[in-house]
Amino acid sequence: MKDNLAYATTSASAVSSDADDAPDLPPKEFLRDLKRGLARPQKIISPKYFYDAQGSSLFDRICDLPEYYPTRTEMAILHKHAREIALHIGPHAEIIEFGSGSMDKVRVLLDALDRPRRYVPIDISESHLLDAAQRMRLAYPALEVEPLVADYTQVLVLPPDEPPQGRRMGFFPGSTLGNFEPQDALLFMQTCAKALAGGALILGVDLVKNPDLLHAAYNDAQGVTADFNRNVLVRANRELGASFQIDQFAHSAFYNAPYQRIEMHLVSTCQQTVSVGGATFRFSEGETLHTENSYKFTLDGLHQLALRAGFTPGQNWIDSDHTFCLLWLDAPPSRSHA
Ligand SMILES: C[S@@+](CC[C@H](N)C(=O)[O-])C[C@H]1O[C@@H](n2cnc3c(N)ncnc32)[C@H](O)[C@@H]1O
Repeated sequence: MKDNLAYATTSASAVSSDADDAPDLPPKEFLRDLKRGLARPQKIISPKYFYDAQGSSLFDRICDLPEYYPTRTEMAILHKHAREIALHIGPHAEIIEFGSGSMDKVRVLLDALDRPRRYVPIDISESHLLDAAQRMRLAYPALEVEPLVADYTQVLVLPPDEPPQGRRMGFFPGSTLGNFEPQDALLFMQTCAKALAGGALILGVDLVKNPDLLHAAYNDAQGVTADFNRNVLVRANRELGASFQIDQFAHSAFYNAPYQRIEMHLVSTCQQTVSVGGATFRFSEGETLHTENSYKFTLDGLHQLALRAGFTPGQNWIDSDHTFCLLWLDAPPSRSHA
């Protein structure tokens, strides 16, 4: 089902409003990135490749785990302040969500908003996005729902800006910003500030905290995070014909305090060779494939990042344990429209 659907891709971080020029998502990108990543001294793959249909549904299960505090904490902040946030946003708003996943959090906002006009969920996980968008259409019949299958680290081709009726709002929850390297987070935020010019962004981020809490959240007792981590290998075997022996890679997640980030790795439990797309890669015992960073933030660091990206920080909403933060960031009007 591809009605109301646009694709966005290519190479630099930029924004365009011309959906007609958008090519399909490049199918060979995973193969290229995996081969490049496996050839590096520290083997690495982008966490965006976790998210096929299976990865997205594993992430949904993570969100329900008792150890995984971020989802329920962010939801609680949203529920508590939804009315106030909705008043800030005003009537007839357009919500653009980056990495929309199952679209549960945005419902709290939509339920509080005055006649929201359009919802544009953007996600790389196509079937999960389209299924969730269909559920949104049924739940909010008056809302225009326009899913966008896109890698938001590439060019973002947003649906054309219609004659302004309400505010253009970005919504980026789930602390997904923490999966970017700091320089990429800045680039993304700059792109966002341009895309939302004259509007604002609501950003949800995980704060620096006791490493024990973090360790538990990324090493759950049921092993769902471990399955999520290994899903990138399962996906490589299925989509690229790679030869990863899944049970010979152990999940490892730990807090790297100097970098203020959780690191996830897959540890080779023996010496082994893996073939991917005609090339072979050797793993020694204990060698890792680095699959994800999840940076944690301080309020001060966030404000600096937002200012450098061109946003003007507004109000923030934090839970009483100082675990998670929602920030309002104004995107000044672009110069050409000012
Ligand atoms: C950590 S989950 C957060 C999901 C949801 N926003 C939440 O708060 O629960 C990250 C989401 O971003 C999507 N995603 C990850 N990398 C992406 C990329 N480069 N471009 C578009 N979507 C991406 C994933 O498919 C997933 O739905």
